[in-house]
Amino acid sequence: MNLNKPLVIVYNKLPEELKEKLEKVCQSVYVDKGVLEKDPLSVKELVKAEALLGSGLKVGKGLLDLMPALKIVTNISVGYDNLDTEELSKRGIMATNTPDVLTDTTADTIFGLLLATARRIPELDRIVKEGKWDKSIGPELFGMDVHHKTLGIIGMGRIGEAIAQRAYAGFNMNILYHNRNRAFEAEKKYAARSRTLEELLQESDFICVMVPLSTETKNLVGEHELNLIKDTSVLIVGSRGGIVNEQALAVALENGKLRAAGLDVYEKEPLDPNHPLLKLENVLSLPHIGSATIETRSKMGALAVKNLIDGLTDRKPVSLINANVWDQE
Ligand code: DGY
Repeated sequence: MNLNKPLVIVYNKLPEELKEKLEKVCQSVYVDKGVLEKDPLSVKELVKAEALLGSGLKVGKGLLDLMPALKIVTNISVGYDNLDTEELSKRGIMATNTPDVLTDTTADTIFGLLLATARRIPELDRIVKEGKWDKSIGPELFGMDVHHKTLGIIGMGRIGEAIAQRAYAGFNMNILYHNRNRAFEAEKKYAARSRTLEELLQESDFICVMVPLSTETKNLVGEHELNLIKDTSVLIVGSRGGIVNEQALAVALENGKLRAAGLDVYEKEPLDPNHPLLKLENVLSLPHIGSATIETRSKMGALAVKNLIDGLTDRKPVSLINANVWDQE
């Protein structure tokens, strides 16, 4: 064991080639995420660790107090709502994420979820597999068209734009969006039109929630907003749980306030199997798989490892979130 190499705590599985790459520069200690969450004091190496690598672990004051040598927190995800970036910046600790490499894959997932929810694909698959396909299906199992409908995207970032591109070019959909800033590129390329949140909810046949989770977006879509959605429309939640209020969503779905929902993310993951949303036939639920393909997860791991090594060897990580930390140096 080379004690001169910086110590890294890794709490995600990494492919062998990335482990080797990391090992050339660092000394890695692999720790279960659950242990870091529930009993971080039992992880003796935390005190000496200069880097933390993985996805989804809540990193705030409590954990940071146990890691006085920490220089960089490297997320293997584009989302970084798990990080208290203000606290990290205050302590001069870099934070990085993995944007771009997952944009198309995540947009594919969200579009797949939209199609599957609209056309009730998992429900019909179950009918076939359970031997219940004894005659042609009737209107009670018909889906709804996707092509030529109106898609409203809440959060027109990179992934939102990639969804708009698929919808516009592949399915002739009309694109509406709600975003903090105007998305001029999307307006030009996909004829997207900016709307207030209320207008978007009222006018869209499909609504995709793609905005990151933050204090401003928590519970952005609650009972009032769900009531604005047409009872024939479908809601897709693809960025983070907590943006759409899950209790209110379950009630709205049960009362026919909207047709169906396709969900990839939840307020608490893994989702409790007794969650009221799972009792509803008009809910399609995925286990947070937006970026989960072999190719993309490998690219995300490689980018995260590169960010980490750069950060520890005095090179500015390409996906540094809190650039102010670097500028202060
Ligand atoms: C991301 O990269 O943020 C995905 O949602 C996986 O966490």
